[in-house]
Amino acid sequence: MKGSAVKTFGILTSGGDAPGLNAAIRAVCRTAILQYGMKAIGIHNGYRGLVKLDAAELTAADLRGVLAQGGTILGTSREKPFKNTEADEETGLTQVEAIKENYRKLGLDALVVLGGNGTNTTAGQLSREGLNVIALPKTIDNDIVKTDMTFGFHTALTVATEAIDRIHTTAHSHSRIMVIETMGHKAGWLGLYSGVAGGGDVILVPEIPYDINSIARKVLKRRDEGCKFSIVVVAEGAKSIEEAKLDRKAFKKARKEMQNSIGYRVAHELEEATGLESRVTVLGYLQRGGTPVPYDRILATQFGVEAAHYLAEGKFGYLTALQNNRIVGVPLFDIAGQTKVIPQDNQMLLSGRELGICFGD
Ligand code: F6P
Repeated sequence: MKGSAVKTFGILTSGGDAPGLNAAIRAVCRTAILQYGMKAIGIHNGYRGLVKLDAAELTAADLRGVLAQGGTILGTSREKPFKNTEADEETGLTQVEAIKENYRKLGLDALVVLGGNGTNTTAGQLSREGLNVIALPKTIDNDIVKTDMTFGFHTALTVATEAIDRIHTTAHSHSRIMVIETMGHKAGWLGLYSGVAGGGDVILVPEIPYDINSIARKVLKRRDEGCKFSIVVVAEGAKSIEEAKLDRKAFKKARKEMQNSIGYRVAHELEEATGLESRVTVLGYLQRGGTPVPYDRILATQFGVEAAHYLAEGKFGYLTALQNNRIVGVPLFDIAGQTKVIPQDNQMLLSGRELGICFGD
């Protein structure tokens, strides 16, 4: 058995679930147990499990058969310990104090967290509080900086692309504008990639505020050229040029007052502007569900094995990341509070423009 700086570590999954989480949990724990004789403590429902001391040992037997399983065997939550500063009535501890106390009670030498931007920001703050933390980049949004890819994205991309393929046939049959709304939070990666892969005629992403008249012109031009249907892919964070002028608070308020999500508004506005029938499909949680595609299983496994080595080496305060096809470590402080959005000179975006895809500008 190889030497290790860590004897016992905790592992948790936090934020929106994503396909590949169980593959990552399996890789971290199996490598740590088999190669270094470590003890793995599974913490339930994200940071909430550390606050509430809701945890149990994860043995090699617990990890059998989970590689291809969607979701997370540990459960997850969107707990933000540094945002909830109220002391608990029973314990008198804040969430952060409870986490630090329970980290010690569980006899943890380190904590592995699998999450997105919010989770990683909390991980960096816990690192500052003296906990030994290692993070893995999980999200279907692919919006984590300093990693080329996050696990979960490719499965969501596959689901969204297959959905767009299916929508094509009914759009053609009914000569309709079909709007497909994808997830992605404040970044447009899922919309951009699935729109290109699915043959979208229009792709709207948050990074390019759209002018509805520009989209209407594209749809009408297609009709005049004999294409009586159009596929419009709308990322959930897409916004109009008018909305782009609002400050954050006003934009949030405006969105809160909207009856339906952005896809419905775009479809309605296009029907008004073109006189053509339109329909909407919001893909929602289909993009987060089900078994991970092989790419995500492999990427999650690579991150997990690397994280186990970091535990053994005592390399704490790092995110495992993919850069130029290599798994590297990125300091958590280098990514805190940032979101990876599509740059205007992004290759996929430029290729889409070359293909004649309308991005609403
Ligand atoms: O971050 C992943 C994600 O699916 C986003 O794409 C989406 O906006 C958000 O989570 C939905 O959050 P919840 O699962 O809390 O509804």
